[in-house]
Amino acid sequence: MSAPNKSYDPVEVEALKPEEIERMRDEALAAFAAAGDLEQLQEAKVAHTGGTSPLALANREIGALPPHAKADAGKRVGQARGAVSKALAARQAELEAERDARVLVEEAVDVTLPYDRVPAGARHPLTTMMERVADVFVSMGYEIAEGPEVEAEWFNFDALNFTPDHPARQMQDTFFVHGAKSGDSDGESGVILRTHTSPVQARALLDREPPVYIVCPGRVYRTDELDATHTPVFHQIELLAVDEGLTMADLKGTLDHMVQSLFGADMKTRLRPNYFPFTEPSAEMDMLCYVCRGESVGNPDKACRTCSSEGWIELGGCGMVNPRVLVACGVDPEKYSGFAFGFGIERMLMFRHNVEDMRDMVEGDVRFTRPFGMEI
Ligand code: PHE
Repeated sequence: MSAPNKSYDPVEVEALKPEEIERMRDEALAAFAAAGDLEQLQEAKVAHTGGTSPLALANREIGALPPHAKADAGKRVGQARGAVSKALAARQAELEAERDARVLVEEAVDVTLPYDRVPAGARHPLTTMMERVADVFVSMGYEIAEGPEVEAEWFNFDALNFTPDHPARQMQDTFFVHGAKSGDSDGESGVILRTHTSPVQARALLDREPPVYIVCPGRVYRTDELDATHTPVFHQIELLAVDEGLTMADLKGTLDHMVQSLFGADMKTRLRPNYFPFTEPSAEMDMLCYVCRGESVGNPDKACRTCSSEGWIELGGCGMVNPRVLVACGVDPEKYSGFAFGFGIERMLMFRHNVEDMRDMVEGDVRFTRPFGMEI
């Protein structure tokens, strides 16, 4: 930079000559126009607008001019720099637009192209639901127990204190297996398709010494027609605990823990008196409606479709194991007591996932199962 000099004429200073400034500007414009991509433009930008670019250096020379010459030189340099930064911005925009257009073309995906379909299956939601419920109890130390689906009448009914004339034994509820024994022509084979998972209670007690803590998921059969809310083949989960000193409070606590694990920490259950031959006392168990949490009751503004604004959803049956069952299975009712409950998985799936028609669960159409995903 030159030192201030009164007699200084901008036209005389090489860098501030009008032709020089025009040349610098034109060179910059040409360099921008010649930049073929954003990287080259960045180089041209540094060369022509950076701190050591000719125009920046010329600009610094202005400071050394005498006051009367400053305005003129400043105007010329300023105009040139303005033109340069405008051209830079314009070229920048142009090159960015070109790049965006190119990226769009290069990265385009033709969604109409055919592809090799590898149909991914999905586990049936009934299976995953049963496992999820069973897992709650396995994590509490319960053991998974199983029994046959083609079951002896004795386990399904007699051991469970169903009297011989109990209505549940009748043809209209139970599938009888005819002629299971050779030479049996009258159908009285003593073998049926189990109507509930409760016979596993008797099998577990005969197999094990108390304390017994088992959970049994399984398929059961009743002579219902297949419709939106019934199916002749369905699934239940049975729970049985037999130990010293078990009470109804243990049953209630276990039920609450289950619904809290499955539906959320603020869930609870309620028991209503009922009758089952194999439990005494027996109860119907409801859980708080997991959608409205009971808030729809008496509150038409918050009507709930899931529980029909009842606030509760019926889950299944439960009770304290009837001492007669303990005796039938060789367990001393003076020493041991127990609780049991059982409920249908289809129903739980219906209200948990808003499945409106039970037939969808049995028809095997993957369009039904797939949205539930590939749960392991
Ligand atoms: N087995 C009963 C049913 O199918 C449910 C139940 C299980 C009730 C255990 C009490 C105890 O309805």
